[in-house]
Amino acid sequence: MCGIVGILGKEAVATQVVEALRRLEYRGYDSAGVATLENGLLTRRRAEGKLRNLEIRLSNEPLEGLIGIGHTRWATHGKPNETNAHPHATAKLAVVHNGIIENFRELRAELQSDGYVFATETDTEIVAHLVTRELDRGKSPTDAVAASLPRLRGAFALAFLFQGEEDLLIGARKGSPLAVGIGDGEMYLGSDALALAPFTNLIAYLEEGDWVVLHRKSATFYDKANNPVERRAQRVAAGALLVEKGNHRHFMAKEIYEQPEVVGHTLTQYLDMAAGRVRLPFADKIDWTSLSRLSIAACGTSYYAGLIAKYWFERLARLPVEIDVASEFRYREAPLPDNGLALFISQSGETADTLACLRYARQERQVISAIVNVATSTMARESDVVAPTLAGPEIGVASTKGFTCQLAALACLALAAARARGHLSAEDEARHVQNLIALPGLMANALALEPQIEKLARELSKAKDVLYLGRGTSFPLALEGALKLKEISYIHAEGYPAGELKHGPIALIDEAMPVIVVAPHDALFEKTASNMQEVAARGGRIILITNAKGAAECGIEPETTIIMPDVDPTFAAIVYALPIQMIAYQTAVFMGKDADQPRNLAKSVTVE
Ligand code: G6P
Repeated sequence: MCGIVGILGKEAVATQVVEALRRLEYRGYDSAGVATLENGLLTRRRAEGKLRNLEIRLSNEPLEGLIGIGHTRWATHGKPNETNAHPHATAKLAVVHNGIIENFRELRAELQSDGYVFATETDTEIVAHLVTRELDRGKSPTDAVAASLPRLRGAFALAFLFQGEEDLLIGARKGSPLAVGIGDGEMYLGSDALALAPFTNLIAYLEEGDWVVLHRKSATFYDKANNPVERRAQRVAAGALLVEKGNHRHFMAKEIYEQPEVVGHTLTQYLDMAAGRVRLPFADKIDWTSLSRLSIAACGTSYYAGLIAKYWFERLARLPVEIDVASEFRYREAPLPDNGLALFISQSGETADTLACLRYARQERQVISAIVNVATSTMARESDVVAPTLAGPEIGVASTKGFTCQLAALACLALAAARARGHLSAEDEARHVQNLIALPGLMANALALEPQIEKLARELSKAKDVLYLGRGTSFPLALEGALKLKEISYIHAEGYPAGELKHGPIALIDEAMPVIVVAPHDALFEKTASNMQEVAARGGRIILITNAKGAAECGIEPETTIIMPDVDPTFAAIVYALPIQMIAYQTAVFMGKDADQPRNLAKSVTVE
């Protein structure tokens, strides 16, 4: 999660770029850099480490340009040294990037075979060469960017500066945030509005897939199909900037939309993306080989993350998992194995029941590990091994990005366990890692389903009860879907394993009962399809969440089919969580409920 800035100013901009970067330093500080045009020529200053080092460099070798881009880096591909620091440049342009370009390897090979020479280990440099190739073919900067963006897979925000173009910056977003600040004859780009606060409070946000062409006196927005679109600028109150909702109505919506970025950020902590390997920062603290069992306890949505991970640990690492809700685990007096590993999952790191389990496991001499989103929390402090999720502050009471980041961390842990226990070849590890790297981009694609989900929500809002079904990792997702819907729309919902339908809940099925089936086309799909037929035969209303193949092969005509992007089945739950969350959110909003602060609930439950 890096921070990017762009400024079209009236005076030398380097100082302002650094000022904006300081406000983005929370997004990373492995290195920083600025590029400007000095007499029309691209000039860069970059420095390893904190922004302060860049400032020192700039005070010794100042930049005078009136246009510039800047970057503060949180390394994903390649070491945090000066060579890999942004902006990355060719003879014709410089670019800064936040996010992950998932298909960088194939693009790099393609560009190399066209004679383009790479100087860094980063995924970003392929963007610089890709657009340069279009310029070399005679395109204008705007057309070159338009032609290049569709080639990029992954989640990213970009800002471009072109040699000789004193009045042009181009920005683009897919999955990572980007705001445009409108000044008086000046224009700004920033990863968030807070970065731009010293210069302007008139802000327009790029929507998913948008790109923008900035001149000092105009901002022209295009959607992903390159059609010009209007993105209204709004005044953002200074105080609101600290925890801003952007152009979302609720924090929950903002947090749903942040997922491609924060899941990518979380993954980079546990993966060596350039090498295609899992790399846990605490690898030496867990001896996966000697474990006979992993015990997991958590509450609410975090518990469901643990339930999904149980499938991963058991299937991939052949590691038996015992998991329970914390309020049960704490009084169950469960016998725990000698030198066992106990894992606690909590967004807040403060939930009383989970914390009590952690202390019980401590007494029982377990190695204590925790997946937490708040790095300073009690659980983090009381654990031997802390695996942080980098979701950023989660304000909406119903957890969304906290959940998918937990899953991202758990997926990496399961792969590390599988590798250490000898159940995963290097080749399979590389394949799984590539699939994980693909997730943020796929999540960004899944967000595009929102208009269809909005329509579905109108129908669901009329229901009194909703049933969610799934098999394998889609079963805990069904539980999570039902929980989300109940907690924010107050519609009664239940999640069931699809195969358990005939042992009871099938009695509930009638024409009034929506049944939401979570069924990516995986090894269990056919079984779930049979369960759907059982529902259809009884007049039930099926809402199917699947991919194109699943839709073609389900054998029934669901009332609604939500067609997801194709995701490798192992970690598909991380992408399928998004429609589940959007269904609950849109239903609650349509019903006029407060999605951020549902009645009777609290974000962090510190009582028993
Ligand atoms: C509360 C929240 C849930 C959350 C649960 C566990 O019930 O409303 O969204 O999943 O607590 O919280 P934790 O911070 O431990 O993940």
